[in-house]
Amino acid sequence: MDAIRIRGGKRLVGTVEVSGAKNAALPILSATLLSDGESLLRNVPALRDIDTMAAMLRFLGRECVVDAPRVVVHAGSQVNPEAPYELVKQMRASVLVLGPLLARFGRAKVSLPGGCAIGARPIDQHLKGLEAMGAKIRLVHGYVEAECARLKGAEICFDLPTVTGTENLMMAAALAKGRTTLVNAAREPEVEELGRVLNKMGARIDGAGTDVIHIEGRDELLPFDHAIIADRIEAGTFMVAAAATGGDVLVLHAPLENLEPVVVKLRMAGVQISREGDGVRVVAERRRLRSVNVTTAPHPGFPTDMQAQFMVLMCIAEGESVITETIFENRFMHVPELTRMGADISVRGNTAIVNGVGKLSGASVMATDLRASASLVIAGLVAEEDETELRRVYHLDRGYERIEKKLAGLGADVVRVKGPS
Ligand code: EPZ
Repeated sequence: MDAIRIRGGKRLVGTVEVSGAKNAALPILSATLLSDGESLLRNVPALRDIDTMAAMLRFLGRECVVDAPRVVVHAGSQVNPEAPYELVKQMRASVLVLGPLLARFGRAKVSLPGGCAIGARPIDQHLKGLEAMGAKIRLVHGYVEAECARLKGAEICFDLPTVTGTENLMMAAALAKGRTTLVNAAREPEVEELGRVLNKMGARIDGAGTDVIHIEGRDELLPFDHAIIADRIEAGTFMVAAAATGGDVLVLHAPLENLEPVVVKLRMAGVQISREGDGVRVVAERRRLRSVNVTTAPHPGFPTDMQAQFMVLMCIAEGESVITETIFENRFMHVPELTRMGADISVRGNTAIVNGVGKLSGASVMATDLRASASLVIAGLVAEEDETELRRVYHLDRGYERIEKKLAGLGADVVRVKGPS
């Protein structure tokens, strides 16, 4: 397994390009199951998760050519609407094939994703919504078995906002008979992007990106050609890295309109952020960061996917900050590793109290999940004149395209070390 080796203390300076949004590309790839013909996706990031979803589509009977940033998906000769555990366990987002398979082929057998490092992550809301649309759902030997000759439009109110739950049901409703209303829907920009693609396919969707979405089902949908929006979490990660190193970085293609809570908190911490052309310029002075309290929330609140990265900034800010994680029950696994690097953090339940320290020291650290890995990379960049080795880099490769190359392009001293395969 590869590792990433970082010698910290360098200010990040220069320009970095943000890639397409992983969490938009994944549901859109799944939406190709809703039509025949050939669909083209542009600005797709070169990530492990994209390769995993492509493998899933091929297993289901789609031809899928990944040549990032382009991906072409073509309806194959036949479809096998069964998503096996071996593939689903690699990536929970595979559950996004459930709605399209059921809506298009009348049946689906998808492995339950199981928990993951950050929490149990049930899919009860996905299943309740499909049942409301007429699906017969059985849980057998760790699989969801769903069938329904033709889904019917329904009024569905989520018990809590769920991103992939909203996306699964939008895709199912797009081919259902009649009108579906999703209430208390997730409002993430990636949900709104899926709505744009489904409308390009001929669906009639209003309100994607708000908490009430109306979908008029169609009998047939068409293939599409679509360029994916930029990845707000990758952009936010580079903005935090620039701030933590006291740098001066232009983050190209950063979707500022989708990053408002992150921008507000960074400015409160003393970071200068300004729009510049098609990007965002981030300037900070290393020793002048102020501590800020953060509570994660569904969009448009502070994104849980930025919590670990922002915590690193607070580790070296002046004073005490309180970081509360409200979305997932176990999303502080970066804390023990940051503590080994000299951070002063105490966790009580879903709250972390961070006392800023003057510096962090390098260490060998272990990645546990995608965003925790990103936070450890930022900590390595901050650990002055020290070396940090981050192992299990495959977590990082799931969601960040060539991160060591992008950081090196900003002046970081970072290399990927090929590990024993
Ligand atoms: C999406 O996951 C993202 N993944 C996650 O990004 C992100 O952290 C999360 O949304 C929250 O923003 C993709 O879009 C592929 P949820 P998802 O359903 O849809 C509970 C990353 O780093 N819940 O919105 O799985 C759930 O347990 C990944 O890129 C139920 O109880 O998250 C959680 O507490 C990590 N029942 C909360 O809702 C359900 O049926 C929000 O989860 C569904 C969810």
